[in-house]
Amino acid sequence: MLAFLGGTGPEGRGLALRFALAGEEVTIGSRDPDRAREAAQVLQKLAPQASIRGDENREAAKRGDVVFVTVPYEAQKPLVTQLEDELAGKLVINVVAPLAFEKGRPRAVPVEEGSAAMQSQSLLPRSKVVAAFQNLSATELLAPDRAMEGDVVVCSDHQEAKERVMALVGLIKNLRGVDGGGLENARYVEQLTALLLSINRIYKAHSSIRIVGV
Ligand SMILES: NC(=O)c1ccc[n+]([C@@H]2O[C@H](COP(=O)([O-])OP(=O)(O)OC[C@H]3O[C@@H](n4cnc5c(N)ncnc54)[C@H](OP(=O)(O)O)[C@@H]3O)[C@@H](O)[C@H]2O)c1
Repeated sequence: MLAFLGGTGPEGRGLALRFALAGEEVTIGSRDPDRAREAAQVLQKLAPQASIRGDENREAAKRGDVVFVTVPYEAQKPLVTQLEDELAGKLVINVVAPLAFEKGRPRAVPVEEGSAAMQSQSLLPRSKVVAAFQNLSATELLAPDRAMEGDVVVCSDHQEAKERVMALVGLIKNLRGVDGGGLENARYVEQLTALLLSINRIYKAHSSIRIVGV
């Protein structure tokens, strides 16, 4: 079961939809269980064969064996701190890109721990944190008739967990997981999202990345 904390937002919904279409069971999490169930119902119409539920974040964290963190950076620390017990022993996928917007222009926000993913790992010592999916556009994810393009760089200090996430990436047609090394490298992937958003503004597009030569 894949669970999405803050899964009512576009990124969580988009990833949940793609994985549901690939045959995975998913739970959308929210601070408000009604909002979670509403989001789940909308996704269910787009993926009628799939099993999609909605629940409060804590219940979603309990139910998922793989739990995605898809909240804004400011919300991450309080949320994962509250759910440390529920997330113990689990694979936690950090999708968070710490960003600020000045006059609509994105910039990467410095994080004391090095990256949002490293912050999660330090707050969740009993979980296996993997950083991934930070460079995928929610708009593209939410348009299931369009094939995704690009690579997903996957960083973690837990090799088996990283391999599991790379296999999950492969469930979404046309996407490839690329081993990005240890969690130390997640900062570069998170910061790249600010660059991609700037490129999107210039080209009025939804860009992604591809690593060539591997
Ligand atoms: N959008 C993209 O294209 C994109 C692309 C790459 C990476 N990301 C990353 O993915 C994450 C989610 O992006 P998003 O655009 O889906 O974000 P979002 O819409 O701003 O927020 C996602 C959800 O987080 C919950 N949330 C918001 N503030 C919260 C708070 N203070 N405490 C607890 N929960 C809170 C809300 O759910 P409830 O109100 O239902 O609880 C909201 O629906 C972000 O970290 C972003 O950097 C996004």
